[in-house]
Amino acid sequence: MSPTHSPPAETSVEPSTLRRTMGRFTTGVAVVTTADDEPHGMTVNSLTSVSLDPPLILISLTIGARTTDAVAATGSFAISILSARQDAIAMRFARRGEDHFAGLPLEYGDHHIPIVPGALAHVECEVQQEIPAGDHVLFLGRAIATCDRDGEPLVFHGGRFIDSSGHGPEAPPWFF
Ligand SMILES: Cc1cc2nc3c(=O)[nH]c(=O)nc-3n(C[C@H](O)[C@H](O)[C@H](O)COP(=O)(O)O)c2cc1C
Repeated sequence: MSPTHSPPAETSVEPSTLRRTMGRFTTGVAVVTTADDEPHGMTVNSLTSVSLDPPLILISLTIGARTTDAVAATGSFAISILSARQDAIAMRFARRGEDHFAGLPLEYGDHHIPIVPGALAHVECEVQQEIPAGDHVLFLGRAIATCDRDGEPLVFHGGRFIDSSGHGPEAPPWFF
């Protein structure tokens, strides 16, 4: 029999504490994109490679964000892994309620999902599973096309972007 864990009567970890604590975990930065009648995209760092065979990738998107609704509706998304000099792109795609694609030249992957030009890598995915998780939805995507190049990544640590190519850190507009 597997062990069971009873949840404590009430949570003792405040959202702001968890945000600060998990901010000690250094990540890369990516933009998740999809398109219904129009393109949608948001900056993410909750991105995990889950399985190589089959090729599965996990992302965690806030309930109610435009991109979350569009990924659920279209059943597909692309991930663009940002390069060191793309902190402005990361900030653009993190601003709520704005047209993230205004004035941005659009490119498409092999499966016609919009991707961010100049990124280090792209992965196009079909949604295999959608799992509600607290105030987020987990999307398990099956990779259907990839492309990548050499280069330095954009890094996120302690609530700041760190340009690994040597630029100073840039504060994002806000933290999810
Ligand atoms: C570095 C960074 C990482 C983020 N990671 C996530 C994430 O993993 N999941 C998420 O739902 N929001 C994340 N956000 C917040 C979204 O980018 C933000 O809510 C976005 O504006 C939503 O766009 P939309 O509502 O237009 O789809 C992150 C923001 C930043 C700055």
